[in-house]
Amino acid sequence: MRVTVIGAGYVGLVSGVCFADFGHRVICVDKDAGRIEALRRGEIPIFEPGLADLVAANISQGRLEFSNEPTGIGEADAVFIAVGTPSRRGDGHADLTHIYDVVREIAPLLSPTAIVVTKSTVPVGTGDEIERLLRELRPDAEIQVVSNPEFLREGAAIQDFKHPDRIVVGTDDARARAVVAEVYRPLYLNAAPILNVSRRTAELVKYASNAFLATKIAFINEVADLCESVGADVQDVARGMGLDNRIGGKFLHAGPGFGGSCLPKDTTALIKTAHDHGAQLRIVETVAAVNDQRKRAMARKVVAALDGPIRGKTIAVLGLTFKPNTDDTRDSPALPLITALHDLGAVVRSYDPAGMEQAKPHAPDVVCCASAYAAAEGADAVVIATEWEQFRALDLERLRRIMARPVIVDLRNVYRGDEMKRANFRYVAVGRPDAECRPVPSLAKRSAGRLGGAE
Ligand code: UGA
Repeated sequence: MRVTVIGAGYVGLVSGVCFADFGHRVICVDKDAGRIEALRRGEIPIFEPGLADLVAANISQGRLEFSNEPTGIGEADAVFIAVGTPSRRGDGHADLTHIYDVVREIAPLLSPTAIVVTKSTVPVGTGDEIERLLRELRPDAEIQVVSNPEFLREGAAIQDFKHPDRIVVGTDDARARAVVAEVYRPLYLNAAPILNVSRRTAELVKYASNAFLATKIAFINEVADLCESVGADVQDVARGMGLDNRIGGKFLHAGPGFGGSCLPKDTTALIKTAHDHGAQLRIVETVAAVNDQRKRAMARKVVAALDGPIRGKTIAVLGLTFKPNTDDTRDSPALPLITALHDLGAVVRSYDPAGMEQAKPHAPDVVCCASAYAAAEGADAVVIATEWEQFRALDLERLRRIMARPVIVDLRNVYRGDEMKRANFRYVAVGRPDAECRPVPSLAKRSAGRLGGAE
């Protein structure tokens, strides 16, 4: 089949190269000429394990092309739209400017029976609006608009694309359904379930899924706080819950709060959609608010671990990206944490294997270091903010030698309390009694903006 993908960002690039790997002939189009030139040279603009090799293989086998002009639109069996839908400034709605610009641009080029498939995350009703626009611009044509949301995770995108839990196809049109099913046929043969639903339903499946994942995380984070108060272990609680198939064990890792380009943005956009339609999503509203507060409040753990004010203290923050295996720092919990540490007068040193450049504009006062050990040199505490593999097996002996004080605040629960005790560290984790989880000072009791108390 011939497939054109508009937008060579995260979703577009991964989808395009995976479609090519299925055996389809794919053209990935992006307005950014520099990005397209780099892709043609095999340079990948995003950090995603395995992507570079897959792109190179499919280019060399002649199935994958890149263009900064709308190419192959008229001949494509399906045209996928995969451009960004960032949060609109001011109100948190999804900004659909790029989507509608693309629709206007491709409208005159589409074949009269084209299938346009939206892969970008778009609010309910966007497919209807795209269809209305296409009818207006192409009254001669019978173009079908399908919603086919994407569920891939950064850092595991290729695996997620090729082994999806489900493929959601939103259209009532049998011809469009058949074309999209054919695009995904290799996965379908592997028994990935295709869920055929209405277009509006498909659009909502995406938001509801992300909002539910966010809810699981926010829930276990609050349970972790309770564990700290009652002396229970959140990891065992999560395991005990997760063994119930109705609950499931995934997305129950307590930590500093969820970040990234999707969960925070999509929960906010879903809340706006609900408001616009006179519905209320009070659970999701609470999840978003609780998560926002949590990130900055993680600074309190550092204050507690150091027994009080941290003015003038040096804190090493390991990990700046919102999760490992990505260079993405958007809405990363590490950033509000760093701001809070600075507000309290601490000097913050940091290291991240991939996200230093992206983080710089958001954390200009951070001292960037060349390694975890360089960051920890002379530090009063090390904070593990992202669970990169290389932070899971730190040389504790070396760390203790170079730090000013042997204190580790593990916001991702990657270490065990007993090994830290053996290595003579004061170790504070999230929701676990084997680590020190002493109740931390309350923000409310302190004056505004001063997490660290009298200084
Ligand atoms: C998320 C969804 O997981 C994907 O299914 C979806 O396709 C994607 O958004 C999207 O809409 O494009 P992603 O943003 O890549 O994927 O990252 P996640 O793996 O979901 O992690 C999000 C955040 O939650 C991270 O900060 C992570 O550290 C945190 N998290 C995740 C936890 O704190 N605990 C967990 O148990 C799981």
